[in-house]
Amino acid sequence: MNNIAISSLGHYLPKKILTNAELEKIVDTSDEWITTRTGIKERRIALKDENTSDMAIGAAKEALKNAKLDGSKIELIVVATTTADSCFPSVGNIVQDAIGAHHAAAFDVSAACAGFLYALTTAKQYLLSGMYKNALVIAADKFTNLLDWNDRQTCVLFGDGAGAVILTPTKSKKGIISDYLLSLGKYHQIMYVATEKRKPLDKEKTEFHFPYAVMHGQELFKVAVNSMAEAVEIVVERAGMQMSDIDCVVPHQANDRIITAIAKKLKVPKEKFFINIHKYGNMSAASVAVALYEAVEEKKIQKGSNVVLVTFGAGLVAAANVVKF
Ligand code: UT7
Repeated sequence: MNNIAISSLGHYLPKKILTNAELEKIVDTSDEWITTRTGIKERRIALKDENTSDMAIGAAKEALKNAKLDGSKIELIVVATTTADSCFPSVGNIVQDAIGAHHAAAFDVSAACAGFLYALTTAKQYLLSGMYKNALVIAADKFTNLLDWNDRQTCVLFGDGAGAVILTPTKSKKGIISDYLLSLGKYHQIMYVATEKRKPLDKEKTEFHFPYAVMHGQELFKVAVNSMAEAVEIVVERAGMQMSDIDCVVPHQANDRIITAIAKKLKVPKEKFFINIHKYGNMSAASVAVALYEAVEEKKIQKGSNVVLVTFGAGLVAAANVVKF
């Protein structure tokens, strides 16, 4: 049977940078607090008219260019996002039009910060079944649209961006070797988007404009560490590998302390974890996609590398893959 390989990568980052020093002027926080508690130094902020679809298109075009592939050849587009420009059309529809993928199927997947790996695994199944010969998988989020800029517990953590990959079948040993998807719906109250219909139970925030993200950070921290560590163990076992076979782990970039805790739990040296949270904060679904792009660019991932991608997000949801490059 064919393997499904990541044959090309792309990314898009808004130009506008928001530093911790600038955040000090917006909320009661400090560079020292944000750096020591999270590892974040700055993040990218999409402009008012820079939509999730614009970022997704930017990432898609780079992935196509790197693959030397014309957009018209793409057969399936799956976009991971929870911040689509609007309920419909899907971001996938807009990307399809922009790249001229006239015969492609396109849809969005909603799995918050775990979205990229949910989309990757979904697209992989379509290719394995033989229904399509290639797929463009994109993760794009304008999470800053969902921020309450008066809430220092959330507004310092997030940024905007997009990453994309092209998947193609291969007869070689490389490809997405194993998958793991999990939903932990019992934790759906730990992180959610507050709306008129779903107001926070614990506080009256009548002065804020809906929608905005509500997060119970400490509870989330514990579940994140446990669920991501477990996801890594399961997906490595499913790949028929040992932890020592893994060359690089690309984790969700929510908090540097979460990554440290996972490394400790798994007894994997932290040096094997690719980290770019200091530059971008948490870009929701785009975090792992952009980190993967940069890990390849920086040659932390090379031909033959065994890589674990692992993430978790609101839902709660967790996901992981082992990919051989
Ligand atoms: O993609 C999924 C998304 N999110 C996550 O995975 C987040 C998981 N959780 C976390 O990363 C951490 O829990 C946070 C970074 C959100 C918070 O770190 P923490 O070490 O758990 O801090 P805390 O919530 O226990 O707050 C400690 C103190 C509190 O003050 P008191 O009560 O000790 O006086 C907070 O009010 O820090 C205060 N605080 C801040 N101070 C300065 C909270 N946010 C800030 C802030 N600046 N931005």
